Amino acid sequence: MNKRSVIIDCDPGIDDAMALLAAFRAPELDIKAITPVAGNVPLVHTAPNALKILALGGREDIPVYPGADRPLTGQAREASEVHGADGLMGWPMPEPRSVLRDEKAWDVIWREAKALGGELELIATGPLTNLAIALAKYPDLPKYIKKLTVMGGGACFGNATPAAEFNIYADPEAAEMVFRSGMPTALCGLDVCHRAHLTENEVEELEGFGTVQAAFCAALSRQELSWAVPYGTPGAPMHDPCAMLYAIAPTLFTAVHCWVGVERAGVHTRGKTVTDAFSDAKRPPNVDLVLDVDRPRFVRRLLALLREYGG
Ligand code: RIB
Ligand code: CA
Repeated sequence: MNKRSVIIDCDPGIDDAMALLAAFRAPELDIKAITPVAGNVPLVHTAPNALKILALGGREDIPVYPGADRPLTGQAREASEVHGADGLMGWPMPEPRSVLRDEKAWDVIWREAKALGGELELIATGPLTNLAIALAKYPDLPKYIKKLTVMGGGACFGNATPAAEFNIYADPEAAEMVFRSGMPTALCGLDVCHRAHLTENEVEELEGFGTVQAAFCAALSRQELSWAVPYGTPGAPMHDPCAMLYAIAPTLFTAVHCWVGVERAGVHTRGKTVTDAFSDAKRPPNVDLVLDVDRPRFVRRLLALLREYGG
């Protein structure tokens, strides 16, 4: 199998952690780097959390290059009420042997993009600040990115506010820069992520794998389950694992090629992803907006990847 070279930009974060553990076992991916960004919790936590997750997943061969500790503009947002003050629910993680690298995330994204001559893919499961800085510093970057998969936004509702999803709300200016960049972009918003959920029974099946990785992911999923009720979803929405599985196996999903823009000025709507997919569809399409998933096949593939830790 030809492995695809990817960099994962993330803000771990409990669902980022689950997405990373799944990615570590995906035979399709050659993970070149992880580039943490401030998001769910400050960078002082998301960066070392990436090291801890690599240690838990047995992948300390993958280097970690920290990025931005704040959004391009505006106040820093966080979601510690969901992820815990440390970003990983205070879960007893292994002590990493690897250390954070000095090179900045955006410089690594450019370096790898150039070196791979257009074959590099990006998977972003946090605020898009690192990618926006890379675009500002290296305007030719879009020529060298084969595909960008983003967990963010949504056509119909928000979670950070009634209008905005957290990753976009945390840095709307960065998101607008990324969506206008011309990089081939797939956007996995709340519409599909809430459909890509795990039921209580499926979380119990996961827990039954009996590994430390499965126990961690089951605990993360139960935390997500506790947040599912207000949204009326019948299970734990797998936000970042959904985007990761889209990057790995897009045929499990349904997407529409359409225009998406980011509201930056609204009093009630700042950070909302606005799309013409359900209206006049007259604007120049710029993303593949992922709207639906074959949930049984999604669950089978996600659990199969996480079961790999059992040997
Ligand atoms: O809205 C969900 C997204 O925000 C996920 O990426 C979660 O980790 C948080 O970053
Ligand atoms: Ca995230």
